[in-house]
Amino acid sequence: MYICVCKAVTDSQILTAIENGVCTRKKLTHCFGIGKDCGKCNKEVIALLERRAALVQSLPCASNQPITII
Ligand code: FES
Repeated sequence: MYICVCKAVTDSQILTAIENGVCTRKKLTHCFGIGKDCGKCNKEVIALLERRAALVQSLPCASNQPITII
């Protein structure tokens, strides 16, 4: 399902990125360009990060920090 229609980015792409250490909204924006056009996807991106954080205690974040939603 498309999360960011403006950039044609799906939930699967975002979840894969999160699982590979892209663990902040800012980093996801940097990687995919999501949230920078109309901004309507930001709530859903944050919800994906929160759901993932609730499921996994410690993701292999590049900076070894817990998930931070910025
Ligand atoms: S839907 Fe993501 S920026 Fe528009």
